Amino acid sequence: MNLTSEEHICPLSNSKNSGNSCIYAEIMETIDLGIIVLGLKKQEIVFKNSFAADIFRDNDDSLGFRALMALLLPGYKRESDFEVFNKNYVLWYKNRLLGYSAYIISDRFIWIIIRDITEKRRLESLAEAVNSMDNMSYVFSGIRHELGNPINSIKMTLSVLKKNVTNYSASSVEKFVDRAMTEISRVEYLLQALKSFSIFESPDLRNIKMPEFLTRFISLISSDLHSSGITITRVLSPQVNTISADPRLLHQVMLNLITNASDALENRENPEIIINVDKKDEFVVINVEDNGCGMSEEMQTNLFKPFYTTKPRGTGLGLMITLKMITQMKGNLQIKSSPDVGTKVTVSIPEGKQDEQT
Ligand SMILES: Nc1ncnc2c1ncn2[C@@H]1O[C@H](COP(=O)(O)OP(=O)(O)O)[C@@H](O)[C@H]1O
Ligand SMILES: [Mg+2]
Repeated sequence: MNLTSEEHICPLSNSKNSGNSCIYAEIMETIDLGIIVLGLKKQEIVFKNSFAADIFRDNDDSLGFRALMALLLPGYKRESDFEVFNKNYVLWYKNRLLGYSAYIISDRFIWIIIRDITEKRRLESLAEAVNSMDNMSYVFSGIRHELGNPINSIKMTLSVLKKNVTNYSASSVEKFVDRAMTEISRVEYLLQALKSFSIFESPDLRNIKMPEFLTRFISLISSDLHSSGITITRVLSPQVNTISADPRLLHQVMLNLITNASDALENRENPEIIINVDKKDEFVVINVEDNGCGMSEEMQTNLFKPFYTTKPRGTGLGLMITLKMITQMKGNLQIKSSPDVGTKVTVSIPEGKQDEQT
C-alpha cells in the first residue's frame, strides 16, 4: 500500500485517530478502480491504490505529484478552479483508454478515480455483432455502457448537491442542477437515436421520384444550414428519375450524412456541402461532399463501429444506422476523406422499376 504518511491514512475522516488500519483504504486497495489522493499543501501523493500504481508506472518509476497533475488535470490552476472537477475525462495512456474524474475535498485533497475503459476488443465484437444482428447482447452491453455514464454522473451530481444543499449559494445549486439536466438531455438524445433501430425492420420499398424528393429534402434542411453559414449546392443529372427506396429511410440516411457534414464544417472557411446525384448502371448514386475537417485513415477504420464518435455530444450511432438502412434498401455506401480537405460519402441505391407506380 502506498500510504506516504500516517496522518493521511483516512483523508475522508478528517481524523488522525481513526485507527491504524483504515477499512476504507483496504477496500480501495482491492477495488477495480484506480484511486489517487493528492495532497495540495505538501504537493504530494497521499494515497495511490495498486490499480493506479500499476497504470502510472513509468518504467520502474512511478509518476510523481507534478507529473500526475500535468497528465490528468492540465487545466488545474488552483483549488477554486471548479471547472476541472466533477467532470469525466478520457485519456489514452500506454495503450489503455482511461476514463477518470477528479474531486476536490475540503480544499486540501484531490481525489482522482480512474477506470480502464479500453474495451477495444468488446467494441470490435460489438461491430461484428451488429453486422450480423444475431447477438444482441453485445449491442445491449454497449447501450448499457452509454447510458451508464450519464446516469452515474447525474447520481454523483445529485448526491454532492444533497450533501451541500443548505450551504451552497443559489447559483452553485443552479450549476449542479444544470449539470444534471445536461446529462439527462444526453440520455434523451441517445434514446432518440436508438429509436432509429426499429424503423429499419421491414423497409417499404417504393419508386420515389428523385428530383421531387431532393427538392423537398433540401428545402427542409436549408434554413438550418444557412444559419450556420453553410452553402448547399445541388447537382442533379437529368438522367436520374426514380429510385427504389423507403422514403423514411432515405430521408434519415440523407439527414445523418448532412448532419455529419455540417458538424465537420464547424469553424471552417467557406463551408460548403454539395449533393450530387447521378445515374450509374442500374443505380442512383448520391454523393454528399463537404470541405470540412476530414478524417485520417485510422479514423476511417472506426467509422461504422457503434459508439465511435469524436464529438463531445455525439452518439457514434449515426453511420452504423445509416449503413444498415442503406443495406436494407439493397444499396451500398463508400466514404473517401482526407484530413483538412473534406469528406465525400457516396450512397448507391437501385433505381426505380419502370413498371411500378410512385
Ligand atoms: N463528413 C464527415 N467529416 C468528418 N468526420 C466525419 C464525417 N462523418 C462522420 N465523421 C466522423 O465519424 C464519427 C462517427 O459518425 P457518426 O456515426 O455519425 O456518429 P456521431 O455523428 O454521433 O459522432 C464522427 O464522430 C466523426 O468523427
Ligand atoms: Mg452523426
